[in-house]
Amino acid sequence: MKLSKRMARLGTETAFQVLARAQALEAKGKDVVHLEIGEPDFDTPRNIRDAATEALNKGYTHYCNSQGIVPVRVEIAREMEKTRGVSVDPQRVIVTPGAKPIMFYSILALLDRGDEAIYPNPLYPIYESMINFSGARAVPVRLHEELDFRFDIDELKSKVTPRTKLIILNSPHNPTGGVLEEDDIRAIAEIAQKHNITVFSDEVYEHIIYEGKHHSIASLPGMLDRTILLNGFSKTYAMTGWRLGYAVMPPELVEPVVRLITNSVSCTAPFIQYAGIEALTGPQDSVPKMVSEFKKRRDLIVDGLNQIPGISCRRPKGAFYVFPNVRKLGVDCNQFADYLLNEAGVATLPGTHFGRYGDGYIRLSYATSQENIKKGLERISSAAAKIRSRR
Ligand SMILES: Cc1ncc(COP(=O)(O)O)c(C=O)c1O
Repeated sequence: MKLSKRMARLGTETAFQVLARAQALEAKGKDVVHLEIGEPDFDTPRNIRDAATEALNKGYTHYCNSQGIVPVRVEIAREMEKTRGVSVDPQRVIVTPGAKPIMFYSILALLDRGDEAIYPNPLYPIYESMINFSGARAVPVRLHEELDFRFDIDELKSKVTPRTKLIILNSPHNPTGGVLEEDDIRAIAEIAQKHNITVFSDEVYEHIIYEGKHHSIASLPGMLDRTILLNGFSKTYAMTGWRLGYAVMPPELVEPVVRLITNSVSCTAPFIQYAGIEALTGPQDSVPKMVSEFKKRRDLIVDGLNQIPGISCRRPKGAFYVFPNVRKLGVDCNQFADYLLNEAGVATLPGTHFGRYGDGYIRLSYATSQENIKKGLERISSAAAKIRSRR
C-alpha cells in the first residue's frame, strides 16, 4: 500500500512509544520506574466523577453541539473572566476531546504552504509535527537553559518575516517546566501586534506553578482577538483519560474549527462536558493540594539530580517536568535514555524528542510518588557512575 505523501510529514509523541517499550520490559519481569509519562498520578476528584455519573444517568449520552454544549462554554467564558480579567463571549469557546485536537484543528485551519510558524524549541512535539503536516515552515526559536528555558526576545524578533503567521507559546512549559515572565509576554504581544501575527498560547499547566504567577497573553489589551488560547482539564483536575479540553478563539476561526470537529469527531461526549462544569464550579481544594505535593517532588528530584556528577538541573517554576543537562556525562542523550531504560530500569525521554535544541538533555516527569522518584534517582546515579567509569 502506498501512503499519502503528507503522512511522511507527520511526527508523533514518543512518550507513548517509550511507555510501550517500558511495558514490554515489565512483561518480561523487569522492574521499571516510570518517569516518562506526563500525567498527574492523582485520582480525578470525587465530585467530578459523581457529576459524570449523574449526567450519564440523566441520559446525556447522545450527540451534541459540535462546538461544545452551551452551559460548559458559559462556565469556561466565566473562568476566563475570573482568571484573566477579559470578557469572553461563549460563542468564541470551543470544546474538544482533550486539548490536543485544538492544535490539530487550529493549525490546519490557519497554516498553508508558504506560511511560517515560530515555536519554542524544545517544545511538546505535536506542534512541530502539525506545522510540518500543514505544509508550512516550522521556525524554531531556542529556549535557553541559562534563562531558565525562556526566549531571548531579540532572537525571537529576528525570526519574524513577512510570512510569519503564527507564534506558538507554552507556559508553564513542557518539557522544561520554564515559565514566561510578564515582560516576555508583553514583548511577544508587541511583536504580534506590530506584524499582525496570530498567537497560539498553550496554557494547560497554568495552575501548576510554584513560584511567581501565570501570565496569559490573552489578558493583554487587544490580544484576545489574535490569540488562540488552549486549555484543558487533563492536568489541573487529573482528568487525562477523560479527554476534555477547550480553546478560546478569534471569531474568524470558530466556524472553520467547528467544521473540522464535525468532519472528524462530531462532538465531545456530553456527560464528560457536564463533569467539566463541576470541575470548574465545584470545590477547588484538590488543585492546591496536588500542586503542593508536586512542589515537594520537584525539590526532591532537582536536589537529587544535582548531586549526580555530570548532571545539572534547573529548578523549574511550573508544570511537572525537569529537563536536566546530561552533556557532561559525555554520552549522547538518546543513548543515555536507552541505557537508563534497558539497563537501569528507569523510563525517561531524550531531549531530542522535543526538538533539536533538546539535544544534551533528558526529560523526567515527577508526576509519580516520592518513593518512585527516590528509586529512580538511585538508579540514575548508579547508571551515571557506570558511564563515567567507562570514559
Ligand atoms: C503542553 C501540552 N499541551 C497540551 C497537552 C495535551 O493535553 P490533553 O490531555 O488535554 O490533550 C499536553 C499533554 O501532555 C501538553 O504537555
